[in-house]
Amino acid sequence: MYKIAVIPGDGTGPEVIQEGLKALSAAAERYKFKYATKIFDFSGQRYLKTAKLVADSDVSELKEYSAIYLGAVGDPQVKPGIIETGVLLKLRFALGQYINLRPVKLYSSDFCPLKDKLPEDIDFVVVRENSEGLYKGMGEFRDKGTRDEVAIQISYNTRKGVERCIRYAFEYCRKRNKKKKLTLCGKTNVLTYAWDLWERTFNEVAKEYPDIATDYAHVDAATMWFVKNPEWFDVIVTDNMFGDIITDLGAMIQGGMGIAAGGNINPEGVSMFEPIGGSAPKYTGKNLINPLAAICAAGMMLENLGEAQAAQAIEDAVIKVARTKLKSLAAGKMGYSTQEVGDLVVANL
Ligand code: IPM
Ligand code: MN
Repeated sequence: MYKIAVIPGDGTGPEVIQEGLKALSAAAERYKFKYATKIFDFSGQRYLKTAKLVADSDVSELKEYSAIYLGAVGDPQVKPGIIETGVLLKLRFALGQYINLRPVKLYSSDFCPLKDKLPEDIDFVVVRENSEGLYKGMGEFRDKGTRDEVAIQISYNTRKGVERCIRYAFEYCRKRNKKKKLTLCGKTNVLTYAWDLWERTFNEVAKEYPDIATDYAHVDAATMWFVKNPEWFDVIVTDNMFGDIITDLGAMIQGGMGIAAGGNINPEGVSMFEPIGGSAPKYTGKNLINPLAAICAAGMMLENLGEAQAAQAIEDAVIKVARTKLKSLAAGKMGYSTQEVGDLVVANL
């Protein structure tokens, strides 16, 4: 019996989570697994009413769960940064989810903004370090508010943090068993402390994986290859900030935010799965948002829980619906409502 903590969150989060839960329920019936859910109301709206974010006691409670399923957090009425750090980053850090796994997979050429690219050309995975780097929140102001002000933001990289991420990426690449190529994406030519550590660690760990080919790309060049030759990539490992940036581009080449899902993984603990598109305030409550990203996130969650067949079935159903039914993957242009897209996936399960 899996215990699933559900955080619908803000904006369109609750709408897409509802469809993801429908798919989960259909998959459970067909593949005979059992689960129970509990809703956790971490959101901008709750913060506005109660000033509450995620408390340490919430973190302890969440540690008892098999997985966390998150819609989106972020409310335009709350100053940027508060919900992000107080909910999303707090959960990632406090639960030790040191990997952010983001598959970039094109399901239908019709939805690719790149000319002449086929599904087999865009099929790679970004392993983003999820606990350090510029996200550590280290830095300071000097002479704040004066003409001499200096703002310092530190990228914090530990050997252990970098090594466990790189090791995860090599293992993942081996298990994935496709091109068996791992690309380190960094900026060794300018960020000569952080990326020196990353590169040395990468080269050392690579010796333990002679079956995996290795490669390096500067992050700026990587964004160019994403557009020009995405077929070169298999698995990419990168730091927190670069991973954040390149996976939004990755989402676009796979068809947009409507289809992009990710997992915040603690390989030894509780992981959290989410559509990566955010709370999309302007579509809230309109039944227009694409739930496929959230449904894909539910699939990733099942894969992580060891329900590989159910996970595959969800992905197959999403592919079928995307290829044969939807006019577009974008909100309001699918030719179906949010709930109808959820129903189509369930029908294909
Ligand atoms: C993401 C988001 C978050 C991040 C924000 C909301 C803090 O952009 O999951 O990619 O920067 O990691
Ligand atoms: Mn992001």
